[in-house]
Amino acid sequence: MMMEKIRLLYSEEQIDARIREMGAAVSGELHGEPVRIVCVLKGASFFACELAKRITVPVVMDFMYVSSYGNSTKSSGAILIVKDLESPVAGENVLIAEDIIDSGHTLHFLTAEMKRRGAARVMVCTLLSKPDRREVDVPVDHVGFVIPDVFVVGYGLDYAQKYRNLPYIGAVEF
Ligand code: IMP
Ligand code: MG
Repeated sequence: MMMEKIRLLYSEEQIDARIREMGAAVSGELHGEPVRIVCVLKGASFFACELAKRITVPVVMDFMYVSSYGNSTKSSGAILIVKDLESPVAGENVLIAEDIIDSGHTLHFLTAEMKRRGAARVMVCTLLSKPDRREVDVPVDHVGFVIPDVFVVGYGLDYAQKYRNLPYIGAVEF
């Protein structure tokens, strides 16, 4: 089995500190109103749970699994809902928690879908963003870290389903 080299980008402490800041910002913007966190499986699960712990307004956790057609390193833009939310979001504050924005197709779809379903407000928080790779513009409320065009793993992010459990974020050196 081939093992890739992983170069440290953000330590567990750095990620934790950044998510605390994001949680405080989100809490302030919600003015005491409840929010449903829509965690985009599987990658955003670590981030969504950690962010939820730092939000001070009432939180409901929900999970959605979407998959984009095409191969693993290039998304085609067509999105399929594999696992949907537990209940309708009409009238609710929705916070989409994503691991990373690459082409932007996934978030573009999810944001439009939540609005189409009648969410009162749609907020977007992503742990990472690779702006150099953007194909569609998506409004994002909070970005944890802006990174260059490198392939990253850890803290929920995978390479062929591996490395999600690393407590830090690292770049894969192929
Ligand atoms: P987008 O639709 O192109 O923005 O795709 C975003 C999705 O692609 C993320 O939710 C990840 O699952 C995956 N992805 C993009 N870049 C990386 C990376 O560097 N490491 C791991 N997964 C990535
Ligand atoms: Mg993902």
